[in-house]
Amino acid sequence: MYHLDRMISKPMYQQLYEQIKKEYQVEAKQVKLPSIRELAKELNISKTTVEQAYNQLVAEGLLLNIPQSGFYFLPAEPDSKWEQEIDNEVLERRQQVDFDFRYGTTFFYTASWNSWKRCVKKAMEQEFLDERSAYQDVQGNDRLRSELVKMLGRTRGVRCRKEQIVITSGSLDSLDIVLNLLKRKSRHFQAAIEDPGYYAAGHIFTRNGFPLQNIPVESEGISISKLALSAADLVYVTPSHQFPMGYRMSVARRQQLLQLIRERQGYIIEDDYDSEFRYTTQPLPSLQSLDRQDCVIYLGSFSKTISPTLRLGYMVLPRHLVGEYRTLYQFDHERAAYMIQEGMAEFLSSGSYYRHISKAVGTNKAKYHLLEDQLNLLKAEGRIDWIPSDGGLHVVMEVLNLQETDVFLQQLQQHSLRLYPLSKYSFSVCRDQFFLLGYGGLSLEELTHGLKLLKQVVQNLS
Ligand SMILES: Cc1ncc(COP(=O)(O)O)c(C=O)c1O
Repeated sequence: MYHLDRMISKPMYQQLYEQIKKEYQVEAKQVKLPSIRELAKELNISKTTVEQAYNQLVAEGLLLNIPQSGFYFLPAEPDSKWEQEIDNEVLERRQQVDFDFRYGTTFFYTASWNSWKRCVKKAMEQEFLDERSAYQDVQGNDRLRSELVKMLGRTRGVRCRKEQIVITSGSLDSLDIVLNLLKRKSRHFQAAIEDPGYYAAGHIFTRNGFPLQNIPVESEGISISKLALSAADLVYVTPSHQFPMGYRMSVARRQQLLQLIRERQGYIIEDDYDSEFRYTTQPLPSLQSLDRQDCVIYLGSFSKTISPTLRLGYMVLPRHLVGEYRTLYQFDHERAAYMIQEGMAEFLSSGSYYRHISKAVGTNKAKYHLLEDQLNLLKAEGRIDWIPSDGGLHVVMEVLNLQETDVFLQQLQQHSLRLYPLSKYSFSVCRDQFFLLGYGGLSLEELTHGLKLLKQVVQNLS
């Protein structure tokens, strides 16, 4: 039964409401409650007090008031179809395997983690000392933008002023903003994406009302001849490390792409998502650095270099789009947590970020070479082919003469291994025998072991 304390300051109806609610959370079945009159009599309180508590619960959807009948707890619906579907989806994603070649997972080393924590702590202390918190500029933290100007200039040849940079919650957020800006222009853009390509980016295009043309990718990058045949004037590309195939767009092709889009007075959206990871050659200059007509919109992210959970990215807008962005987003606030932005500014300015990158490149380079050795052995046996990559955190492998993809995936699962079929990234051509192997989230030891098992499964394929 309920215990109401008249000596405390909390109103009686509130005490009653909280106790009934607690009881409700334990009970899952439909139960009839005592009438208002009965309960008021039993607890020796006024009917208004009970009524207030009941009404609050009705308003929250926890009680049902059936006229002429009374008040009922509403049973929870654990088995409703949509909940079940969502639970299944989450469950599927979570199913653990020992060697998950999932793309997009990263490692943060202890030393880097400690310096990152120091930087965020410093940012928090700074905010605490300021004693005041306020909404900040819609383009993001000023110091971080200044640091990005230096970093992008030095490492990617990007030429920009901090006024052109917008801090976002990642590349996809940046893309969403860009498309939101462009769809409001009087002119209607024809959009194109690489095929195979980044399906998540494609989804953002269609969600913003841009039908997409799929342009095939060749070993030098997006096919310029196919692009020229289309009417596309808004192209999304991943030139440093084509996603997912891993090709690097040649300088000649970069120039051709720029020329074509310039002639069409359109835009190129350059997604430079993992250019920090180069193992064999120096990175080529970004498209933005070659652009003389302000037609490149450059997207960058900390999802690969630090962690996708940070939700921190940035974009460099052509100068003429900055004003449009500020007008369209004038009533929005900064898009990423300010303390994290300030922490990142500190991480960059203290040099810790660069030390972290240097370590991450070293470790991933060793993993890449391990993959290279093992995949080459399987290739020499005529079982697979693969695309050697200039860097990044994943490679693409083709299993030759593969009969049934599902059976292969099940066999991998039995060995606690998971690879990712490329079919998800292929828009027009069926690539069921191609797989994506992400290695960013595996340690060298795990990778060694995982590759050994992969070799066994592939060698046992009939
Ligand atoms: C091609 C490509 N671009 C960008 C991203 C990163 O997106 P975000 O910064 O939104 O995490 C990814 C992540 O997997 C990607 O594969």
